Amino acid sequence: MDKQKTLVGKDIELAIQFLKRNELVAIPTETVYGLAANALNPEAVVKIFEVKQRPFFDPLIVHVHSIDEIQKYVTYVPMAVYELAKHFSAITYVLPKKEIIPDIVTSGHNTVGIRIPGHALTLELLKKLDFPLAAPSANPFGYVSPTTAQHVLDSLGGKIPYILDGGACSVGVESTIISFETEIPTILRLGGTTVETIEEIIGKVDIDIQSKSNPNAPGLLDSHYAPNVPLYIEKYPPEYSHDEIGVIAFQHHHEGVPLHQQFVLSPTGDLSEAAKNLFHALRSLDNMPIKAIIAEIFPDESLGRAINDRLHRASVKRARK
Ligand code: TXA
Ligand code: MG
Repeated sequence: MDKQKTLVGKDIELAIQFLKRNELVAIPTETVYGLAANALNPEAVVKIFEVKQRPFFDPLIVHVHSIDEIQKYVTYVPMAVYELAKHFSAITYVLPKKEIIPDIVTSGHNTVGIRIPGHALTLELLKKLDFPLAAPSANPFGYVSPTTAQHVLDSLGGKIPYILDGGACSVGVESTIISFETEIPTILRLGGTTVETIEEIIGKVDIDIQSKSNPNAPGLLDSHYAPNVPLYIEKYPPEYSHDEIGVIAFQHHHEGVPLHQQFVLSPTGDLSEAAKNLFHALRSLDNMPIKAIIAEIFPDESLGRAINDRLHRASVKRARK
């Protein structure tokens, strides 16, 4: 494809024009930005895979504006989904799909991941469209997800016609994925809605985030969300001096490392704030002339679990085998 100019703005009508022409538009959600296409049109959806360089076996999430819309695309909506959707938006529900959802969206699976994003601009867009939007995170496959329009522009600029700018994402990590294919609902990806809050609403859930048991879901692969600069968890590699290192810390700076190479995600110890700042910190450090990134382990509770999951998948031990 010829390099094209990527426009950035808040113009929903323009976004609609592109989407109706089967073009891609990056859209804001409260979790991360998505790279959207008409989910019902395989010719539009194939462009997502091309632009992201995403393998076809990795299924996409379908975005709709209401629970009634979910009913149009899945054969069965459990009560638990109604309950959860009343309270939270950062959840993707894996449910049995209807025929109308093309195989390219679900990578041939008979289930579809579907969510109602919690972002006013994108909800307005979805309400004005007469089709749902298939949208993975708007980053090249395997890289850190974007949480601002600028992040999208940095990696997909020139490859898509329009980025709908909805400001910085308020949650900052991807949605929690929960499957209702099993007797007890199973969390397949830790994300923006915590296990604790989900269990408060629907009772005990199982957690199965091991890629081995989900070989077809690369969002769950060991190596994912990775910056180009090697990332280490907790330990300073001895071959680098402190000047060559970047830090991702929870509450406090690290002694000896230049301050501008450090991101303290939440000085007050708020895990939601830390999640919101995580991907910006990773991207910023990745653009600095440093040799390594050291990340702390976060408290293993609430959004700390999703943060730790992303950091482990981004880390060097797993990323570079
Ligand atoms: O917050 C989010 O979920 C963002 C925003 C844009 O909605 N989207 C996102 O999409 O993170 P993506 O493509 O980067 O991750 C989607 C992951 C896939 O990699 C796969 O693991 C899982 O969702 N998935 C999608 N459909 C599935 C299905 N039918 N069964 C199991 N897993 C599925
Ligand atoms: Mg992704």
